[in-house]
Amino acid sequence: MEIREINSGKADFMEILLIGDEDEAMVNKYLELSMLFALYDNSILTSICAVMEIDSQTVEIKNLATYPQYRNQGYASALLNFVFDRYKENYKTVILGTGENEKTLRFYKKRGFVEFDRVKNFFVDNYDRPIFEDGKQLKDMIYLKKL
Ligand SMILES: CC(C)(COP(=O)(O)OP(=O)(O)OC[C@H]1O[C@@H](n2cnc3c(N)ncnc32)[C@H](O)[C@@H]1OP(=O)(O)O)[C@@H](O)C(=O)NCCC(=O)NCCS
Repeated sequence: MEIREINSGKADFMEILLIGDEDEAMVNKYLELSMLFALYDNSILTSICAVMEIDSQTVEIKNLATYPQYRNQGYASALLNFVFDRYKENYKTVILGTGENEKTLRFYKKRGFVEFDRVKNFFVDNYDRPIFEDGKQLKDMIYLKKL
């Protein structure tokens, strides 16, 4: 397993980024401003993570995704651990925003994140069409943090 930092050609990763965030216009807003980490196993790309600096104390995970056929093998957890290690010396907090999806919230909470904020109707107000996950329309944005 190898995690590579991607500094150029970030748009080449659009296919996997769209798994974590299905709105390409949204992805394009943060992609160039983000640090991109790609996880390869036997030279095969399995997972991606985009991280953006918010302020001198905070970084935000903007995108985390694993291709469906490579899930449940610890790749996203390995990327999260890599990101914590990488930023823990220079930043206080890692935050991320996600839709109200039980599976996703459970995934992050099990890995040490706690809820600290909620933006009502974020997905209704900021996306040009309704976003559904597991058959449920996403409305509020839930913010999680890990100190
Ligand atoms: C969430 C996701 C990144 C996990 O990737 P992964 O490489 O399978 O993660 P790991 O193998 O480290 O961990 C597997 C965990 O993910 C959970 N999981 C599986 N499918 C999931 C899904 N569609 N959504 C959320 N969590 C999921 C598993 O239940 C497992 O949880 P557990 O270990 O706590 O029991 C991956 O399922 C994914 O890309 N989902 C779609 C995009 C997404 O929802 N991204 C998160 C919001 S940005």
